[in-house]
Amino acid sequence: MKIGIFDSGKGGLTVLNEIKKLLPDYEYIYVGDSKNNPYGEKSEEELIEITTKISKFLICNNCKIIVIACNTATTRCMKTLRKKFPDTIFIGTVPAIKVACDNNYKNILLLATTATINSKRVEELVKDNKKEGQEIYLKACPNLASSIEADNKEKINSLLNEYLKDYKGKNIDCIVLGCTHYPIVKEEINNIIHCNIIDGGYGVAKEVKHQIELNNLILNKSNSKTAVYNTLTDNII
Ligand code: DGL
Repeated sequence: MKIGIFDSGKGGLTVLNEIKKLLPDYEYIYVGDSKNNPYGEKSEEELIEITTKISKFLICNNCKIIVIACNTATTRCMKTLRKKFPDTIFIGTVPAIKVACDNNYKNILLLATTATINSKRVEELVKDNKKEGQEIYLKACPNLASSIEADNKEKINSLLNEYLKDYKGKNIDCIVLGCTHYPIVKEEINNIIHCNIIDGGYGVAKEVKHQIELNNLILNKSNSKTAVYNTLTDNII
């Protein structure tokens, strides 16, 4: 049995790297769904149809655990996927708001896709974790994930300057990256607002380890062999 992982392109590779640091021996299958990027602009119905196809592909290829390495797909589809495929363990990615609050940062800025920012999950995370004296700013960043996917540096920098300009004077001490594409441009973000930047990758990796232990899973060990598929070039869904 293997570990499957997917995202709307290369963003989820940032999560896969964290998982491999913690669990270097296992065999992985990664699906980068660049054909359907950006997920952040799609309806829930569309996303459920797409992620169901990807899950079927991963399950047919012997994956017992599926990591949804995408905040948008996690908030929109995880509950449905768990119901559709009850024998598979789904692990999602959520913005690390809890980590930021637990570390007592004062002015926290969450950057994510529009779909994630407007989700019930983010509303709950803020409500459950925000302490007295803490401020959490939510900023949707349309087109940023797709510009990162396309590696369009000029567009990335102009979007970041536009989205961050209002927060420069707010003493932001922590930025939470609520989209798995954003760690790829962490340095560019830090050049505009210098502060601690956190993402959900390590938390996901810890959860994968926990689920393997909890379920006594015997998974293929093959020194981190990873099969990588991209839906633009591989006809898998
Ligand atoms: N990487 C994804 C996330 O974590 C989504 C980017 C997108 O396709 O909009 O939300």
